[in-house]
Amino acid sequence: MLDSLDGLRTRLVIEGGRRLEGTLPAPGAKNAALPIMAASVLAGGEVILHGVPRITDVDVMAAILESLGARVREQPGGTLAIDTSSVNSDSAPYALVSRLNASFDITGALLARFGRAEVPQPGGCVIGPRAIDLHLRGFEELGANVKLEHGSIVATGAQLEGAKIALARPSVGATKNIMLAATRARGTTLLENAAKEPEVVDLADFLNSIGARVRGQGSSTIAIEGVRKMHGAEYTIVPDRIVAGTYLMAGAITGGDVTVTGFDPTMLDGLGQKLGETGCEVKGEGVSLRVKGVRRWKPTDIVTAPYPGFPTDLQAPFVAYLALAEGTSVVEETIFDARFVYVSELARMGADIKVSGRSAVVRGVSKLKDAVVEAPDIRAGGALVLAALAAEGKSEIGGLEYIDRGYEFFEEQLARLGASAIRASGVAPVAARTDFGVTDKIPKIVTPYSTS
Ligand code: EPZ
Repeated sequence: MLDSLDGLRTRLVIEGGRRLEGTLPAPGAKNAALPIMAASVLAGGEVILHGVPRITDVDVMAAILESLGARVREQPGGTLAIDTSSVNSDSAPYALVSRLNASFDITGALLARFGRAEVPQPGGCVIGPRAIDLHLRGFEELGANVKLEHGSIVATGAQLEGAKIALARPSVGATKNIMLAATRARGTTLLENAAKEPEVVDLADFLNSIGARVRGQGSSTIAIEGVRKMHGAEYTIVPDRIVAGTYLMAGAITGGDVTVTGFDPTMLDGLGQKLGETGCEVKGEGVSLRVKGVRRWKPTDIVTAPYPGFPTDLQAPFVAYLALAEGTSVVEETIFDARFVYVSELARMGADIKVSGRSAVVRGVSKLKDAVVEAPDIRAGGALVLAALAAEGKSEIGGLEYIDRGYEFFEEQLARLGASAIRASGVAPVAARTDFGVTDKIPKIVTPYSTS
């Protein structure tokens, strides 16, 4: 009980109105690290992962792997050593899986390794239903038998067979899960209309590093040739384009000048183009991207889309930016059903946004004002932080249990750019953790929703 109250009390206190300037490195990508950790089950040996972000979702995935029998050790500097030679269970525990939609990725990996996987069905979440029909149909097309038993998906198939699978939509999760399941199938699987996100490419590259045979990642057709055995490897996770984009927008929304380094700037072409349309100077060079903001910016319209389109994970932060534009913008969300839930919190800071179904009309206001607000999901948390950085006065942002799922050392990084951002009280920041542990040690997550 006290733990939960701690989680609720802790807030980010941000004093807005400071121009952010400087350079930050991009951390490793959450949405690559999580499936790659799940995929380490296939190695049956030791996997050393570099560039693993220090976020609570990683802790939960580590705890899931430990519950299956893996040994997970954290090494300094964002490195995890995961030994999956002793994994001896094909059944993932509800208490952990229910905290993280991405943990469903473990299904494909367990099915491929053991011929059986029992994983609780992920629930819905605040950004909309998280359907898994395409994952399950894919397993079936590989020859698995899939049933729902007592709330868990039970997939069995001692020898999966390669197949031609055309996804009805380029689902990121289904692409990853089917790719994992197919790694040990007999023959070749052709996955059509596959997701092209850089995190999908990173998972495929990791799989190849442990002995799988995956080709075509990054295009809409991925070929997975089944292999009998895989092995350990050392691998570095791709940088997080969403976190990079959030920092760049932190610069833009404060009329500042921020550069993010250590990542391929073309991964953010969709964002860069839109920031350019509003008047920012956007310059990608080598492995860095610089965004120079302006004092007042123009409105623009966005439509979220699968990669390389404008990412749904940057929709909320971009709406916070548009809330201060000189004019009206229209934002259309095409990926998730309910990804405007945060708008009421932005409205409490003075934003003028009308939502109708999957569209929002954002009428720019001349200033935002401080407020006590609550983040309802990870990226909405990013949006509220951006709004607070630009707002007059001292805002307090709750819902850190979400923000800590996606942004490592958030307030420290913002402070490096000149922000006044501190964690007010309660649980220790993620940076203070020194170990990964099983269920009772993972950081508090105080609501029933999971959003990644
Ligand atoms: C991944 O979610 C990311 N999560 C999300 O990031 C991201 O927003 C999303 O991809 C889109 O880029 C992780 O990688 C862990 P989808 P995922 O499968 O895999 C529908 C964040 O904040 N659908 O492409 O769940 C589904 O309901 C998170 O970091 C089906 O209908 O995305 C949704 O509307 C949030 N049937 C849409 O497709 C299926 O079987 C996109 O889902 C699967 C999905």
